[in-house]
Amino acid sequence: MGAESHLPETGGLEALRSAARECRGCPLYRRANQTVFGSGDSAAWLMLVGEQPGDAEDKAGEPFVGPAGKLLDRALGEAGIDRGGTYVTNMVKHFKYTRSERGKRRIHERPNRAELTACRPWLSAELAAVRPRVLLALGATAAKSLLGRDFRVTIDAGVPFDAAYHGLAGVDTVLATVHPSAIVRIGEGAERTRRYRGFVADLRTAANLESTPSRPRRLQ
Ligand code: URA
Ligand code: SF4
Repeated sequence: MGAESHLPETGGLEALRSAARECRGCPLYRRANQTVFGSGDSAAWLMLVGEQPGDAEDKAGEPFVGPAGKLLDRALGEAGIDRGGTYVTNMVKHFKYTRSERGKRRIHERPNRAELTACRPWLSAELAAVRPRVLLALGATAAKSLLGRDFRVTIDAGVPFDAAYHGLAGVDTVLATVHPSAIVRIGEGAERTRRYRGFVADLRTAANLESTPSRPRRLQ
């Protein structure tokens, strides 16, 4: 199991994207419509990484185009970040779900450790191709995969870490924030506003890292 045997030997992002269409590195390809590879600027300064595509992404073949993606777009705008200048991807490239009781809706199911491990070579290849200065994990799944299992998004959101220390070649700084889906799930109200503001603030932190010298301020 694992994506390794599907990686192309040469070529850039386009070669990766087309090879990932045929990936059979774990069982998730069987029930999903298609591989949802990362997309965006191939020389992006910022890479955003979520957990896995959702229902809308599985249908569209693009990451973060559903409700979470809409919220992300708005927050990026408020933080002064042009999504077109970023690269957006996920830890796992196929949608994992269960069926609702009457079978109509597909309900997101968290990828397990084996699936995260199997899919990781694609993210490593994306990082090697894009070499973003800043890597931003969206939500606990991505944060724990990238920064360690003890990482708590509720405590360490927005704190910049040294990417090399975390074995992330090609990146200077890694940080994490809440997942936009978590904000979408909170009904309208004060709590949602508070979390959304925190999310925008973390995006601003990421944006500021672009213009500061390449070493993150707080090493860990
Ligand atoms: N949630 C994610 O983690 N990724 C997407 O692409 C969409 C929703
Ligand atoms: Fe391959 Fe990742 Fe899809 Fe599994 S989830 S089949 S490893 S692309």
